[in-house]
Amino acid sequence: MVTSLKGRHCLTLTEFSREELLFILETSFSLKQRYLAGERIIPLLPGRHLAMIFEKPSTRTRVSFETAMRELGGDAIYLSASELQLARGESIEDTARTLSRYVDGIMARVYEHWKLEKLAQYSRVPVINGLSDLHHPCQALADVLTIIEKKGRDIESLKIVFVGDGGDNVLHSLMLAIGILGGKITISSPPGYDPHPSVLKLFNEHASGSFEIERDPYKAVENADVVYTDVWVSMGQERERERRIRDLEPYRVTVNLMNRAKKDAIFMHCLPAKRGEEVVDEVIDGKWSVVWDQAENRKHAQKALLALIIP
Ligand code: CP
Ligand code: NVA
Repeated sequence: MVTSLKGRHCLTLTEFSREELLFILETSFSLKQRYLAGERIIPLLPGRHLAMIFEKPSTRTRVSFETAMRELGGDAIYLSASELQLARGESIEDTARTLSRYVDGIMARVYEHWKLEKLAQYSRVPVINGLSDLHHPCQALADVLTIIEKKGRDIESLKIVFVGDGGDNVLHSLMLAIGILGGKITISSPPGYDPHPSVLKLFNEHASGSFEIERDPYKAVENADVVYTDVWVSMGQERERERRIRDLEPYRVTVNLMNRAKKDAIFMHCLPAKRGEEVVDEVIDGKWSVVWDQAENRKHAQKALLALIIP
């Protein structure tokens, strides 16, 4: 039985056991149902404030966190890292110490993952990863919520395939989430684009599930229930653009590729998509695509996370 998650950070999802992750997901479902039934405000966090630090642009993360906090009876403060004293050299330690005297939680989107670890180390309040170069745990919560909604709770029986950059932050979090829940994920990426060693270490330590790497995307998606992709050039990797496009070209999600998956397979993407690169219009706008439901679920999953970890 899960007692309390209050005060917990969420940097990689490995802060949570399988049982705790399932509890967050069940809470997400219940908050979503209540919201859809017309209960727009569910005041589980009255008077609480979330500081949101962004070093990179965002549409979904910013708006889903901001609306989530307001709908929980609290509020959120958008902070561009370039406008904080951080930009003039104030340390992360001092920023964490200061912010946690004002707010009840800190969400941050950063270039380097170590910055989140430092924030968490010096913060008195929970720190949530809103995307780093290595992890995107809130995206993975919404992804698993979507997979369960579309394919049922028996995650272990599903064939989930990620096609593209095996070193992608969104994939890292998805593989950890699926792995902690006991499922299996197939990664189809070219040599040199494998998951980061630190993520493999976390996977070995925390996951009861498994993963496999299949270089051939057509073999990989055979009989897939879920086909997932993300951009080939993530924020911060712009200088590698040419090489990445060249290497990842064979991993574009096309109609031909989707036709190899199960008839009722779903297509997922965290968004924003670079249409024509990692996925073609006919797939992202086609019968397989669940990307808008997936984006919507960001808010419901984060509401549960916030309600459970913010004291
Ligand atoms: N998926 C995601 O995190 O989107 P944003 O970059 O728009 O926040
Ligand atoms: N992998 C992408 C995800 C964006 C939500 C990036 O880091 O840019």
